[in-house]
Amino acid sequence: MSVLNESWSLGGVEVENRVLLAPLAGIGNWFVRLQAKRYGAGLTVSEMVSSHGLAYGDKRTRNEFLRLHPDEGPTSVQLFGADPAIMREAAAMVAEAGADLIDLNMGCPVKKVCRTGAGSALLKDPQLAVDVARAAAEGSGLPVTVKLRPGITPGERTGVVVAERLAAEGVVAGIAFHPRHASQQHKGLPDYELAREVVESLDVPVMISGGLLSEEKARRVMEITGAEAILLARGALGNPWLFERVLGEREGLPTGEEVVTEWLWVIDQSSDHFESDERAARYLRKFHPWYLDRFKEIDPETFTRARLNEINQDLQKTDSLDAARAVVGAIKLPQAA
Ligand SMILES: Cc1cc2nc3c(=O)[nH]c(=O)nc-3n(C[C@H](O)[C@H](O)[C@H](O)COP(=O)(O)O)c2cc1C
Repeated sequence: MSVLNESWSLGGVEVENRVLLAPLAGIGNWFVRLQAKRYGAGLTVSEMVSSHGLAYGDKRTRNEFLRLHPDEGPTSVQLFGADPAIMREAAAMVAEAGADLIDLNMGCPVKKVCRTGAGSALLKDPQLAVDVARAAAEGSGLPVTVKLRPGITPGERTGVVVAERLAAEGVVAGIAFHPRHASQQHKGLPDYELAREVVESLDVPVMISGGLLSEEKARRVMEITGAEAILLARGALGNPWLFERVLGEREGLPTGEEVVTEWLWVIDQSSDHFESDERAARYLRKFHPWYLDRFKEIDPETFTRARLNEINQDLQKTDSLDAARAVVGAIKLPQAA
């Protein structure tokens, strides 16, 4: 048992442990969150959802992004937007959908998002950031957290200032901190020393994201930063076993059979998520390489780059779920090293 296995409270929501699933745009839907939960995640955060899309009644935003599975909780739904009135409305819809918390995206570096004043653009306007967070809390009645970065470009500390304001004004239950500047996107070394400073200076729980690709790293980052919890992101793509490993519930890699079983589970869930089988098959194309990567880890001699590319090419052509199942089913399973 480590500190990572201890339960804690985030804005009054009981969280079983300190290993959480980070928000992942275009990925973190209900079945990816349910998968993380099945492997031990204490809390999962949804992919980012447009507050405008919700408030303007966009059906697809409502039906696909606010869909929650009864067994997945606790769940935080992440919203983005920079208009407090719209945020208030969208946040009420999130509460209505049954989410336990709301997370606000103030870290996204993508131009399309920042052009609207949302994402990391909010780091330049601490007052607006506070107003948006307050509107989300008032509109939903749920605890609100904010995920942000240290600033836009290296050296800046606007994000730290925003985090301090949000905490000092009592509008947030916690902060999720990704210690890379927005201009770095997802590259470069996260600044865990800065993260530790933020953890020490705020009197709300701080969750850390960034560079958490192994159990050793996860434990080290908890130690360095003294954070309340960590958020797994790229390390967990097609790799729910990382939750078990970080939690000390599994040693080593999954077997080839386990990988295939899980991969087929994902394919089955996607058929429930999308109305059309073809859309599900297209959507899953980005998932396939992640599962193939597991085979490379288990048996690198058989699963060379060339062999993996060959299988992936077949998968990238699939336009039905049965076609995807057939390719996965035909893979000769790797032998554990
Ligand atoms: C494909 C992808 C999608 C992401 N989508 C979101 C998002 O919707 N909201 C958000 O706050 N962060 C998002 N992030 C950032 C991650 O939550 C995380 O902070 C980042 O990947 C750093 O963690 P890592 O180095 O362990 O991957 C995304 C990252 C990736 C790679």
